Amino acid sequence: DPRQDTDPVPARAQDRSAPGAGSEHLPLDEAFRNEPDTDVALPANQAWAEGIAARITDRRWYEELPVPEPVDAADVERLVATGRAAAEDWHGRGARERAEILNRAADVLAARRGHLLAVAGAEAGKTLGQSDPEVSEAVDFCRWYARRALELETVDGARFVPDRLVLVTPPWNFPLAIPTGSTVAALAAGAAVLHKPAPEVRRCSTAVVEALWEAGVPRDVLQLVDSVEGEVGQALVSHPGVDRIVLTGAYETARLFGSWRPGRPLTAETSGKNAMVITPSADRDRAVWDLVTSAFGHAGQKCSAASLGILVGSVAGSPRFRRQLLDAASSMVVDWPQNLQATVGPTIDEPGGKLRRALTRLDPGEEWLLEPRQLDDTGRLWRPGIKTGVAPGSFYHRTECFGPVLGLMEASDLHEALELQNAVDYGLTAGLHSLDPEEISTWVDLVQAGNLYVNRGITGAVVQRQPFGGWKRSSVGLGAKAGGPNYLVQLGSWQKAPFAE
Ligand code: ALA
Repeated sequence: DPRQDTDPVPARAQDRSAPGAGSEHLPLDEAFRNEPDTDVALPANQAWAEGIAARITDRRWYEELPVPEPVDAADVERLVATGRAAAEDWHGRGARERAEILNRAADVLAARRGHLLAVAGAEAGKTLGQSDPEVSEAVDFCRWYARRALELETVDGARFVPDRLVLVTPPWNFPLAIPTGSTVAALAAGAAVLHKPAPEVRRCSTAVVEALWEAGVPRDVLQLVDSVEGEVGQALVSHPGVDRIVLTGAYETARLFGSWRPGRPLTAETSGKNAMVITPSADRDRAVWDLVTSAFGHAGQKCSAASLGILVGSVAGSPRFRRQLLDAASSMVVDWPQNLQATVGPTIDEPGGKLRRALTRLDPGEEWLLEPRQLDDTGRLWRPGIKTGVAPGSFYHRTECFGPVLGLMEASDLHEALELQNAVDYGLTAGLHSLDPEEISTWVDLVQAGNLYVNRGITGAVVQRQPFGGWKRSSVGLGAKAGGPNYLVQLGSWQKAPFAE
């Protein structure tokens, strides 16, 4: 709902200089509020951030972090049986006890903010500007789903029966927030969880899972399961004892998992090919900044990222607008996360496949406004690229490439822009920059995407204020959005008859 954009922005923490500082315990009976991000303009927080940068540079502590033991095919039956047995006790404890534990997990995560940022920097290459809001989001997910769990057990005389065992497979690009959110939702609903980290970010997932254990989630209720690839992965995903898969990843992965468990529950947040439309009425200075930050934050490796800018009418024809875009993109600091000035970090690995094609090739009609350039011999640090003249129906118009490339398209009016924006298989986020109320209302009515953002960036949805989820091939088996009021209801079923006790 774009009107939420007028809500006050949550406060920013003033002082992080001690563990947990800048975060307040929020008792379960108090209404939800968002955890504050760090205000890095303040000297106390700058000193704190420098300490994190120093830890990322000195990787000795990192090499000693625990990583989960890989499982093999022989472990699968035991893991499933353990989880299913533990679920009975976990659900039997009742929503309030579960919610108290998850609400406490928020405090454990908040107290470890600095450590989590160091792990995400060292392991995933996340810059502090990108990972700090992830910790806030992880804390928010714990507090939010804990509160939603209290309202689940009976609605209109029907009783909610949660899934018993959920396999959670989070992605590498939000290595703190999404592993936390998906896991805590299932736990809040009353299910036991098998948490399978993305292989690139095992240490981040481990840090999250350890925080949940420490808050009181039993280890057999939440099991860490590593290296679920190939045969082992298929055995787990298809296992009849796994009631649901909660996946965040590529649409193709959701299809594959679906083929391994036909007709059985799969809840997946998948790909996006997201555009921001900029009309002649827009505040162009603001639009330029929102476009480049939405395109290149975390090197464009977000399902929510803007990978297309659709320039309407006189914006398309404006050399000044292109110059501003070029200047804004060129002024971004591309570096590893130990550089606290970095606004664009590394890619997760050396780009291959679709991303390499997008970074190195132009299709007919395309030209570089800013040519991507590899900046060091790791192959992971790229000056972002902007290509103009992306043609309707072309590779870059329709393909999610997940990296630091922005394509520009042109439209003569808002309706043509909407056609281009909607002519993709996905519908996750969408942006509009316009100061014309009629344009805004037309666009809101016609755009096909789950999360709509007007006159702002299109990434970084905030729990409760901006529930997150998509249309079309951006979601599979997902109704209510993550971080919204009804997400938990999907993780089980409703028994019509009153529960006899
Ligand atoms: N929830 C993440 C975002 O909104 C993907 O950017």
